[in-house]
Parts: sequence; structure tokens; C-alpha cells
Amino acid sequence: MKPKILIVDDEPDICKALEFLLKRENYAVNSAHSGEEAIKKLKEESFDVVLTDLKMGKVDGLAVLEKAKDTSPDTAVIIMTAFASIESAVEAMKKGAVDYIVKPFLNEEIRLTIRKILEQKKLIMENIALKHQVSQRIEACMDFVANSEAMLKITETLEKIVPTKSNILILGESGTGKGLIAELIHCNSPRRDRPFISINCSAIPEGLLESELFGYKKGAFTGAVSDKMGLIPLAHQGSLFLDEIGDMPPNLQAKLLKVLETGEVYPLGDTKPRLVDVRIISATNADIEKRLKEGRFREDLYWRLNVIEIKIPPLRERRDDIEVLAIHFMNKFSGEHKKNIKGIDREALSLLLEYPWPGNVRELSNVIERAVVLTEGNYITPKDLPDKVKNPELEKEPSGASSSLKTYLGDYEKNLLMKIYNAHNRDKEETAKALGIDLATLYRKFKKYGIEAE
Ligand SMILES: Nc1ncnc2c1ncn2[C@@H]1O[C@H](COP(=O)(O)OP(=O)(O)OP(=O)(O)O)[C@@H](O)[C@H]1O
Ligand SMILES: [Mg+2]
Repeated sequence: MKPKILIVDDEPDICKALEFLLKRENYAVNSAHSGEEAIKKLKEESFDVVLTDLKMGKVDGLAVLEKAKDTSPDTAVIIMTAFASIESAVEAMKKGAVDYIVKPFLNEEIRLTIRKILEQKKLIMENIALKHQVSQRIEACMDFVANSEAMLKITETLEKIVPTKSNILILGESGTGKGLIAELIHCNSPRRDRPFISINCSAIPEGLLESELFGYKKGAFTGAVSDKMGLIPLAHQGSLFLDEIGDMPPNLQAKLLKVLETGEVYPLGDTKPRLVDVRIISATNADIEKRLKEGRFREDLYWRLNVIEIKIPPLRERRDDIEVLAIHFMNKFSGEHKKNIKGIDREALSLLLEYPWPGNVRELSNVIERAVVLTEGNYITPKDLPDKVKNPELEKEPSGASSSLKTYLGDYEKNLLMKIYNAHNRDKEETAKALGIDLATLYRKFKKYGIEAE
């Protein structure tokens, strides 16, 4: 989309000259030869910039300014005046003009003034977009739930570190909630009203990552047609979330380290640094210690990033979170899909508690969303769950060459016993009945597999 500019002057030659000049700058240019015509055009469409003469016939530049501000407050109005009288220009500025130009003007002056104004407008728009993201994020942060001892401990740590500026490294398998915790840290910190900028280091090609992070000056390389603000300067006074930091290429690791040490960023092709103040939250599901040992990740950078380390355990190691998460997702998706789901039945719940969740919380969220969509009643039941959750043993390969059929079947039997036992609320008689065995056999099997039966 080309920026739209309206030129207003009662001297047709000036309109023509300006049109010629600004079209060459690649703007969409329109002209009006009187104040009346300008007002008509302003009613019909909106412009990014209006460049208007001050002294015209009955309807002058000030009237055009007023009309422009009235119909679209975002339009930037520049006044041209042949009378180098400061007063009229000052009056126009007071009424909301962004700038004025004294005739006769130089082409360069017009070009630069318009360019500067459009750049400022762009920044303002970006800021509005960021504010919008902030309010969405605060909602997202209210989504965090925790019940297990491990997660409650993490929450306690978070409470302590959130007010500080310390860099944080979050470790954990895919889907454990690293991204969510990064947002949680930012939107509870004193930086919450400033940007939270997130970038996935493994999703962006190496060449682009550098210009994305640091920004560039116009002409820094072929294709750099205008200045571009980097993500690090954009995150100034806010937080920068570097996801999959383990995949950051070595030359960039060195550059990032320098930024952290000096607090300065050099956009590509620029000799002047920008001062930045960012809190870095990084995350990875890679084995970072292994990469350190192999020399694939710089140790000095690691210590800068890892002032505080948060290790999120996989879901299978904090089973006390499964139920609260499942209920949380059930409520969330029940609302989103306009269903009226009241709960998860006992049997379905015990299946959820048993399943190993290799995809962690993200997998649980997907399973519950699917169940909410599929279920016909008000409760989620086993038939709404995918087969892998109903029969995790069948999914599992016998582990390793050493495992014999006997141990495989033993594992299967133990899991089945546990499942049925939990599904019957740990009632042994009911469990035996459900399995079609007598109570004594049940006790024997419990003993064999070390299942506690108080
Ligand atoms: N404790 C939690 N409470 C509520 N929702 C959670 C929790 N943990 C994770 N989630 C949700 O689970 C999903 C996966 O979490 P997230 O994207 O943060 O994981 P991740 O560790 O960043 O994964 P990846 O390594 O694949 O990027 C998200 O929808 C997130 O909102
Ligand atoms: Mg993530």
C-alpha cells in the first residue's frame, strides 16, 4: 500500500511540480486546486498526508486543516506558506498541523519532511499494535494453572524474580509451557507496559536472524530499501523472548553477547549504536549442557543468559497437574466451542491420569479440545478420548531388546490393574468384579506388582 498524499494549492503549476516530485517517491498523489475541492476530496477518502497552501480563495489552508482533522484525525497536515510570517504558521501548528514549509521551497525539503512524517506515523501505528498485544497477553497470563509441588515451587521462584531485571533461561521439553511462563514473567514484571518481543531462533534462516534482531540502515545491503528497526531495539525497556536459543548460530551468539555486555546495538550498516535496556528471557528444549561441552554454545553467553534457571519438568513427572489442567482446558474450550460441558467422568479422568503425555501440556490441551468437540453429552467420557490415551500400552513398543515378552505382558497387566483400580475409585471389590477375577487373585497380583492396596 502506497502512502496517500493530497496536494492543495490554487496555483496549478505548483500542484503539478509537487505531483511530479512525490510520484517519483512512490506515493499515491492527488491534487486539489482550491480549498473547496480539497474539502470535497477529504470527505470522500482519507489521506496519510495533506500538503496545503495557506492563502487561497474563500476556503483557506486553515479550513482545510480543520476539515482534515475532523474527518480523519490520523491525517498529517503540512502547511505551505508564501508569507514567511511566523504567526500564521504558528497558528496552523496550534490547530494541529504537524509542520510548515516556507515558499519557495526546495524539493529536498519537501521530500524529507514527508518522509519523516510517514516514519513517525509508522512508529505510532506499531506502538498501537504493541499495546493491543499487551492487553491480549494479560488475558493469556491468567491462563496459567499449577497444582503439583514442582510447579508450585516454580511459581514461588517466579514471584521472587519477576520484579528484577535478571535474565532468565527456561528449560523443558516441548509443550511443557516455556512460552507461557516467559509471557507470565513479562506481564507481571514492572516492564509489563513495554513490549514483549518474541523470536524463535530456529524458525528464521541464519542470514535473516541477524537483520531481524539488530535492524538495518537503508542501503546496508541489496534489498534494504528503508531503515528497519531491529527486534532488540524494539524491545527497549521491555522483554525479549529468545525461543530455541540453543539453535542460535555461533556468529550471532558472539554478537548477542556483545549487546548484553555493552547495552548497545549496531543496526547493520550503521556506525551509530542505539542504547538498549532489555530483559532477556530465553528458552530451549535442547540439551544445552551437551551443546556447551561440544562447543556449539558459548559458555560466556550461557552464563549471561542463565542468571536464573527455570527447569519445567515434563508432565509425566508432575501428575498432580493433570487434573487441574484438564479441567482448565475443558472450561476454556467449552466456552470457545459454545458447548456446555460440566465435567470429566471418573473413568475418563483416570485414563488421563495414566497416560504418559509425551507431548506434555500441549498434547493434553489438544486431547481435551478434541473431546469437548466430540462429546455429545455434558460430560467427557472415555469414548471421547483418542485411542492412544485409552490404550497407552498398545502404543508403547516393548522397551529395548532385553525386554522379554513376559516383562512386556507384566507391564501391560500392571498398567491395566492400576487403570481399572483408579477408575473404580480404588475400590478393590469393584475392581475385581470389573476384571472378572476374585478378590484373592487381585491381592496376589497387587502384591506381585507392588501396587499399594491400603
Ligand atoms: N501451566 C499451564 N497452565 C495452563 N496452560 C498451560 C500451562 N502450561 C502450558 N500450557 C499451555 O500448553 C500449550 C503449550 O505450552 P507452550 O507453548 O508454552 O510450551 P513450550 O514449552 O513453549 O513448547 P515448545 O518447546 O514446543 O515451544 C500452550 O497452549 C500453553 O498455553
Ligand atoms: Mg514455545
